[in-house]
Amino acid sequence: MKVLIVGGGGREHAITWAVAKSKRVEKIYAAPGNAGIAEFAECVDISVMDAEKLVAFAKEKEIDFVIVAPDDPLAAGVADAFLDAGIKTFGPRKNAAIIEASKAFSKDLMKKYNIPCAASETFDSAEAALEYLKTSKIPVVLKADGLALGKGVLICNTFEEAEEGIKTIMLDKKFGDAGNKVVIEEFMTGREVSVLCFSDGTTILPMTSAQDHKRAGDNDTGLNTGGMGTFSPSPFYTDEIAKFCEENVYKPTIAAMKAEGREFKGVLFVGLMLTPDGPKVLEYNARFGDPEAQVVIPRLKNDIIDVMEACADGTLDKVNLEFADNAAVCVMLASDGYPLSYQKGFEIRGLDNFKGKDGYYVFHSGTKFSDGKVVTNGGRVIGVTAIGADLVSARKNAYEATEWIDFDNKYMRHDIGKAIDEQ
Ligand code: AMP
Ligand code: GLY
Repeated sequence: MKVLIVGGGGREHAITWAVAKSKRVEKIYAAPGNAGIAEFAECVDISVMDAEKLVAFAKEKEIDFVIVAPDDPLAAGVADAFLDAGIKTFGPRKNAAIIEASKAFSKDLMKKYNIPCAASETFDSAEAALEYLKTSKIPVVLKADGLALGKGVLICNTFEEAEEGIKTIMLDKKFGDAGNKVVIEEFMTGREVSVLCFSDGTTILPMTSAQDHKRAGDNDTGLNTGGMGTFSPSPFYTDEIAKFCEENVYKPTIAAMKAEGREFKGVLFVGLMLTPDGPKVLEYNARFGDPEAQVVIPRLKNDIIDVMEACADGTLDKVNLEFADNAAVCVMLASDGYPLSYQKGFEIRGLDNFKGKDGYYVFHSGTKFSDGKVVTNGGRVIGVTAIGADLVSARKNAYEATEWIDFDNKYMRHDIGKAIDEQ
């Protein structure tokens, strides 16, 4: 089987690593890929958004199976382009990816189908939003409707901050058209857990749980980022909570999408908050998380192609999804200054230290080749994942392995997975 993977970050590196293990796969291409993905795949310089070129390439190379991994191309209908060309594809169509691409849509869906979530109202005018704010409890959460690189959520601790926030989103258009509508949401408290689920549109199979650390600095300080590290599983996601979510969140969400004529095939990522009133949905994503994929995929026991193909074919009910009974921690090595401004182009040393080391992985997020060397090429550079018998040893292993790699301006958090020590 020939596989094309669309994307070029750490999530796609983890996916490519798993695809390369499949006995059914003879050749992998990645568009655009990166210096790490190049170990397993032939990288082709086509933008993830260029549906026309991607489809032409897939036809030319007689690709059997395409995996569209990032949010932007899914929201723009890149999976549709492959499917409409008759190419088997993993990833939801545009009309289903809207569950991530529009927070107003996902809130309406949850309300209509009684899926537990924070109380909220959606506005398309700043005046009406500001008027409603006067009646809101503080703190309050503002969410730009559209995709905003994970930065479109503002938690406001005063009324003045919230007023400023509405102006930033709706009038100054800091997040562009993503801010044409705003969701004003009740502030919730509790542990956060991410559960990524495979779905074929009818059946939904939750994967092992994970948790992301979104803020740039230790102890959850500093700006929001794409994710500075993850651990899996979450010790707070008990069997009882899992059962509740399966019955009250995952199954109803997939059934709701089907009922709306928006069959969801791919990975549904459910961001949950375990509130004192029970689990509630924070957000949906229409894809694997990054860096959640870097801790969940290494623990997957199945052949990932079998599972992904079952999602595309509608035969997921035949799959027995299995994860190793261990734990994983991923520490993101970033460029100092991320997420604001940072330099690129520094040589990355020590990558060979991971060769032949079982249970240690280096997943490239922002890297490229330059003069035969691998250099930094983004804010998030490399995710170092390690497995352990439990979370505490996985964390110890991961932090040890972060020392094996070096580059100028290397920055990381030192408390990834720390919550687990409180257990
Ligand atoms: P989202 O992109 O919707 O996941 O939001 C980003 C982050 O903002 C979440 O991971 C939470 O930490 C926080 N957040 C979002 N919605 C709420 C809420 N209603 N109450 C408290 N925190 C929230
Ligand atoms: N790590 C969060 C995300 O991928 O959206």
